Parts: sequence; structure tokens; C-alpha cells
Amino acid sequence: MKFEIIGGKTLKGEVKISGAKNNALKILASSLLFKNPIIIKNVPYIEDVFRMNELLKLLGVQISNPKKNTFILDSRNVKNFILDDKIAKRLRASIVVVGPLVGRFKKAVFPYPGGCVIGKRPIDIFLNSWKKLGINILEKNDLFTLKADKLDGTEIIFRVASVTATETILMTALMARGKTIIWNPAIEPEVLALIDFLKQSGAKIFVEKSKIEILGRNGKLLEFKKPFEIIPDRIEAGSFLILGSLLAENLKILNCNPQHLMSLVGILEEAGVEIKRGKNFFELKKPKMLKSVNVKTAEYPGFPTDLQAPLTVLLTQADGHSTVFETIYEGRLNYIEDLNRMGAKIFMCDPHRIIVFGKTPLRGRQIESPDLRAGLAFVIAALISSGKSIIENIYQIDRGYEGIDLKLQKLGLNIKRIV
Ligand code: EPZ
Repeated sequence: MKFEIIGGKTLKGEVKISGAKNNALKILASSLLFKNPIIIKNVPYIEDVFRMNELLKLLGVQISNPKKNTFILDSRNVKNFILDDKIAKRLRASIVVVGPLVGRFKKAVFPYPGGCVIGKRPIDIFLNSWKKLGINILEKNDLFTLKADKLDGTEIIFRVASVTATETILMTALMARGKTIIWNPAIEPEVLALIDFLKQSGAKIFVEKSKIEILGRNGKLLEFKKPFEIIPDRIEAGSFLILGSLLAENLKILNCNPQHLMSLVGILEEAGVEIKRGKNFFELKKPKMLKSVNVKTAEYPGFPTDLQAPLTVLLTQADGHSTVFETIYEGRLNYIEDLNRMGAKIFMCDPHRIIVFGKTPLRGRQIESPDLRAGLAFVIAALISSGKSIIENIYQIDRGYEGIDLKLQKLGLNIKRIV
């Protein structure tokens, strides 16, 4: 499937933000920790969620979908502890399933997880932490076999504040005996939302700025008490803020949490965009001109790496030169060659740093979506370009954004899904 986009139109109207992919995937995986079925609402209807559900089903989790965006997961009959090789290799978040799986069964088998092509994605922090919890790890041909007689709470120091490692290890530690402390954990809103869900189901987890304490339940499963609502997708909301800054006569972004996006709001305000915000909405229009800004990606509450590519597209339209420093992944600037082919003037200093010279008009082209975030950046680039663009490999975009073409059409933009 491809997107055909005719650029150069302005947009107007309202858009509703879906549930966050990176919260939904972990909440779905946490179903393995429950002794009764769990009900999850506001789950985005996206390819990564479908892959996660397939992976869980193959382990024996029964999943129903009584209405769009609501899923019920029942892990009472799970007997299998081997992750499906093909799906796990396609989905980086598959490793999060291993956390509750090894916690519950004291064994798990999984392949090296796949995912986006955005640079090295090591798993050393996961492996070291599991070892500290008392798990033996055997690795053969990129297949990992985890086994433990018992899991004992311990103290773990993360070398870097990894999002999925925090989520995975805290779910393993929850099934251990005694207390575990994770120092230097990730505290992204999606991590905190997972902790909220576990806590409302009986888990004792304490979050401080530099550590998370988990009281192990010695194998005792959690009890589901009330439906959980996936938090709004801050990356989708942020992408619409960027798009609105480029094309909106007037745009209202609904069902979002502005507090999760303050770093981006600060950057856009410095670029000259006026943004109104309420408890769960943003409202904005494009300014007369955009000014250059220097940005650096960072862990939350810093500017998220997942918005770096869309923001770079915006910077091509800002007067003056901007610098972008991608600190999290080294493969996450690879899309700039394609932007340059569309007319941008971006200079790569090293794999982590670029200079964007603005303002440059963009021209439509045929381009391939390399990963989901750069894919959406190309959609934004195509929408501000003159002429027609074809974006290929939109499976990548459908991995993370629910009905993005329909949302853009509703705002008056010209985007079509074609075979
Ligand atoms: C999560 O990835 C997100 N994915 C990513 O979103 C997001 O870009 C990233 O966090 C940063 O916010 C999911 O939640 C499924 P990290 P994750 O471990 O957890 C290094 C998207 O587009 N590291 O926090 O994999 C790592 O290489 C995706 O939705 C190790 O060195 O990211 C990186 O430099 C892409 N060893 C840094 O930590 C490890 O064992 C932070 O990455 C683990 C990570």
C-alpha cells in the first residue's frame, strides 16, 4: 500500500488523538501477570497492536475485541513460554512480553527482537537485569533461553534510562521474592501509566525521580479491578502540533494531554507559533513566518526522539539555520537524504547532528517510509510540498498511527491510500 499526496493545501478543523502505541503495547503484555481477564480501553487500532495481540494469542492468551479500541485479555490458560520467532523479530516491543512471562513461569524463550531500522538496539540492560534477579541466560544463534529456580529482588542500576527495559524489568521484579530497586529508570508518561495500571490492580510500586521500588509478590498474580484507559498518544498529538504550525488556518487537537508535550510547545513557541492549550486540547494556527531553533532530543521530559523527524521537516520552513542533535539513536537521521531530494538543504555533521538551512520550498516525490516516525515526517513533508508525492511502505506508518489518512482527509488535506 502507498499514500498519494497532493501538497500545498491548508488545513482546518479538529482532530482526535488516539491511545498511545507505546503505552498500549506494554499494557497488553502485562495481561500475563493477571489471574483474571483485563479490560483495556482506548487501544489504538494499529498494526503494532495487532502484532502484539497475535504474539500473546500464540502464548495462549484469549483476546476479544467487543468494540473498536476495547480489548479483553484473559491469560488464565497460558501454558506456552516460547515467543513466536517471526512476530517477535518484527516487533521491538516483543521483548516486553518476556518480562511478565519469565516472572510468571520462571522460563521464557525469545529471539533477538526486531523493530525499526533506527540504529543499534542493544538489549544488554535487559539481560544484565534478569541475571541480577537470579535468571540464567543461554544464548544460541540469537535465541535466548531464560530459566530460574527462584527470582530474588535486588538492586539494579541502569546504564541508560531505557523505556522498554524499565517496563520489562519492573514486571519481572513484581513476581520476585522481596524488594527490587531500579536506579536511573525511564519515567516517560507511558512507563508511569503502566505503573498506574499495575498499582490499581494491587501492585506495590513506588516511583521517585531517580529510582523505582517494586515490592515483589513472590509469584502471586495481580487481580484486575477496573478497566484501564490507554493514555493519549503524545507523539501523534505532537505531530499534529507540527503539522498545524505549518498548514493550519485553525486546528484544534482534542483528546490529548498537553502536559506531556511541554518541551515541544517550548520549541514551537520559540519558532514563533502561538499555541493555546487547555486540560486536554491544543489550538493553533500557522504563524506568518517560522524562526530557526536549535533542538536536542532527550529522555522525558526533554524533546522526544520520536518527534525529531517531523520537527526537522518544520525546520526546513524556518528562516535561518537550525541545528538538530539526536542523542538517543544513531540511525535516526537517515531520512534526511530523502528530504534533501525534495528540496531541503540539510547538512549532516555526523550520525547524530544535522544543520537545517531554511527556508527551502519542497517538491513532491516518490519516497519510501523507512520507519514509522520518519514515515509520518514524509507525509508532513509531502503535504507542504508542491505537486504530487507517493509514499511507499506505509505499513510502517500504519504500525503506529490509527487511520492517519482519514484524520488528514477530515482536515481538508489531499491524501489517498492506493495499491
Ligand atoms: C522506546 O524504545 C520506544 N519504543 C521508542 O519508540 C522510543 O523512541 C524510545 O523508547 C525512546 O523514547 C517502545 O516503547 C516500544 P530505549 P526503547 O531503550 O525502549 C539504549 C517508536 O517509534 N539501550 O529507551 O527501545 C538504546 O540503544 C519507538 O514508537 C541500550 O543501550 O528505547 C537507546 O540509545 C521507536 N541497551 C537508549 O538506550 C539496552 O539494553 C534509549 O532507548 C536498551 C536500550
